[in-house]
Amino acid sequence: MNYRALGRTGWRISEISFGAWAIGGSWGNVDDNESLATLHAALDRGVNFFDTADVYGDGRSERLLARLKKERREKFYVATKAGRRLPAQTTEGYSRKNLTAFVNRSLKNLHTETIDLLQLHCPPTGVYYQPEVFGILDDFVKAGKLRHYGVSVEKVEEALKAIEFPNVQSVQIIFNIFRQRPAELFFTEAQKRKVGILARVPLASGLLSGKMSHASRFAKDDHRNFNRRGEAFDRGETFSGVDFETGLKAVEQLKKRVPPGASLARFALRWILEFPAVTCAIPGAKHPAQITDNLAASDLPPLSKASLKGIGRLYDSAIKPLVHHYW
Ligand SMILES: NC(=O)c1ccc[n+]([C@@H]2O[C@H](COP(=O)([O-])OP(=O)(O)OC[C@H]3O[C@@H](n4cnc5c(N)ncnc54)[C@H](OP(=O)(O)O)[C@@H]3O)[C@@H](O)[C@H]2O)c1
Repeated sequence: MNYRALGRTGWRISEISFGAWAIGGSWGNVDDNESLATLHAALDRGVNFFDTADVYGDGRSERLLARLKKERREKFYVATKAGRRLPAQTTEGYSRKNLTAFVNRSLKNLHTETIDLLQLHCPPTGVYYQPEVFGILDDFVKAGKLRHYGVSVEKVEEALKAIEFPNVQSVQIIFNIFRQRPAELFFTEAQKRKVGILARVPLASGLLSGKMSHASRFAKDDHRNFNRRGEAFDRGETFSGVDFETGLKAVEQLKKRVPPGASLARFALRWILEFPAVTCAIPGAKHPAQITDNLAASDLPPLSKASLKGIGRLYDSAIKPLVHHYW
């Protein structure tokens, strides 16, 4: 495992880290024992950063991470999120009273006195124009409830605005072979300000593992079933906003580029690691075998120039016209 600096926190975190949404909920049935085994497997292989949220399984994901902490001695960092417990996403909802309640609940779920990193959880764009919200987060740091804070955003424009606040240490944003716009301007700006970047949805909700086909079906309570058109939350969170059939066709082209012995998942994650501005990718995993596969991306050699160019051409022709301008 290789480690990269996260913003100005002084932390060095695993370049392939762990996304703990699926082990909480909204991805079909998951078994806590299997999830815990997956978390242990990640720690065994050098992962030291886990991303969760208070709403993942209504706290189930946070509580699994608290169990992991109890069962292991190694130091690892947990980043959680706040804001999505609001009944409706309004700027006013990001008040001191509400944020205090969310943070206190996460502290309890995580069995800790201080949250390592708290991220605003894709708040409405207006929140980035409310310095007082960031002032509240500064107060939480002073009070010892948080070590650091950052944001999770939907749009590049939100990311650019968020990093104007000097104590934002990290920006979590969708970045993968099917979502390349963050690399255009935002990465340079984040690097200038030494802000960490957490690349989320790195496998486009599993599509970039290459295992899916026209015949793939998803459980009723899996967002790959119920959020295909953004019915429950931003459409970009499911398959990166790429229409499933279009994605499958592009995946067939990508498969031809995978070096012998590697999987498409590893290849897709390795592509993300080619960008030095990225601190880590946070693929989700429900089974130990998935984390083993994903972590092997860190051992792959850098991708060839021809591979990078080929991926760029595929994105430009098949994906970019459909998604680039939205996020
Ligand atoms: N708004 C936000 O802040 C936000 C939104 C989305 C995600 N996130 C964070 O980002 C993390 C990653 O994104 P994500 O979980 O949405 O998507 P992802 O990482 O692109 O996809 C994860 C899913 O792909 C499948 N998978 C993973 N590794 C695989 C492998 N090697 N081979 C085959 N299938 C594999 C698993 O599901 P199956 O086995 O069921 O196919 C897994 O749950 C989340 O866990 C969460 O921490 C944050």
